[in-house]
Amino acid sequence: MRGNIEMAEKKYRVIQWATGTVGKTALKYFIENPVIELVGVYVTNPEKIGKDAGELVDLPLTGVVATNDEEQLFAMGADCVLFAGLVQDLDVYCRFLRSGTNVISSAGPFNPTDRYRDQFDRIEEACREGRASYHGCGIHPGFSGDLLPLTLTRLMSRIDRIEVSEIVDKLRNPMVYIEMMGFGRDPDELLANPSRSPEAPYAFQGSMNMIIEGLGKKMERLTTRLEVAAATKDIPYPNGVIRKGTVAGQHYEWTAWVDGAPLVVYHFYWTMGDDVEPRWDNGDSKYRIVIKGDPPLECHLMGSKEADGRHPFLGLQWTGLVGCTAVPQVCDAEPGVLTHLDFGVVQPRGLVRQ
Ligand SMILES: NC(=O)c1ccc[n+]([C@@H]2O[C@H](COP(=O)([O-])OP(=O)(O)OC[C@H]3O[C@@H](n4cnc5c(N)ncnc54)[C@H](OP(=O)(O)O)[C@@H]3O)[C@@H](O)[C@H]2O)c1
Repeated sequence: MRGNIEMAEKKYRVIQWATGTVGKTALKYFIENPVIELVGVYVTNPEKIGKDAGELVDLPLTGVVATNDEEQLFAMGADCVLFAGLVQDLDVYCRFLRSGTNVISSAGPFNPTDRYRDQFDRIEEACREGRASYHGCGIHPGFSGDLLPLTLTRLMSRIDRIEVSEIVDKLRNPMVYIEMMGFGRDPDELLANPSRSPEAPYAFQGSMNMIIEGLGKKMERLTTRLEVAAATKDIPYPNGVIRKGTVAGQHYEWTAWVDGAPLVVYHFYWTMGDDVEPRWDNGDSKYRIVIKGDPPLECHLMGSKEADGRHPFLGLQWTGLVGCTAVPQVCDAEPGVLTHLDFGVVQPRGLVRQ
């Protein structure tokens, strides 16, 4: 889609659905961005219900009050809703889509693959009925393992392998899910029965496909490997202590094979600080894309250095922002499911301002 003046002057009426880390980033964006009019905020937390949207993100009052009344929001006729709930909710997506409100969701599903055909069929049908569009947004899946590496392939003359690493020090960047992801468990037990869902690679398969099919190839199979690191001493964190000898690092490796060889490899290096063995020595939190071939390339995506000299992990904020910046294009697109391949180059609006 080509950007034009008409698009630049247009305002979009938007609802923010849920206000966790991703949702708060989006809410702040919507309040501050001049091409967006925030019209609704959905919350589940009783302490947030009835609060002004501005209060939830330390901004001045907006006159938009957070509610848990879903029906009120479905009936609003907003241009778009950014869904950032804990888990995906196809019923909510389809209610909005059928009523003509476009949906962007950080909870996925992301890219249509056979495995998620049923979900996308439901979404497509609702899109058709309401003449609306759906887009799954995120940093990974959604950006650093698909759009970014595929874009970087434009700088290559031959590609042997593409390696995408998500590197997160969860001690410096505290997050929920630490226990849920198995930190603090016995290493052998975790290797035998990982905490990360066996479904996880398939949620990312669409991203791998986007690169592979973007290069005119087909994925033959997907293999997985898990390696763990143990704490070399007790590691205190906000919710408790990771005991010495228990899991304090996890390296998931998922490999997409093409023509009998690995072509796209995703690594997830999650650690709880530096007191772990083995040390993977990846440095600060970041996304790292390495493309082996001619000429070899390495690209690091990280937050700017903070006062302590370290680079923060901004993946959750980026997950919200990559959805927010797509709002105009999602709203102005032809109805249906939209991936990066449908957008072409996204042209964000309202970012450059006094
Ligand atoms: N693709 C990606 O790269 C990517 C990256 C990060 C996250 N995500 C996804 O984005 C979504 C939001 O992530 P997040 O990090 O912002 O999560 P979060 O901080 O845990 O927030 C989730 C929000 O969901 C709402 N919620 C609804 N039902 C809930 C329940 N039963 N228990 C707790 N909260 C409930 C709450 O909103 P209120 O407080 O407003 O009530 C909560 O704040 C998740 O689906 C996550 O998987 C995707």
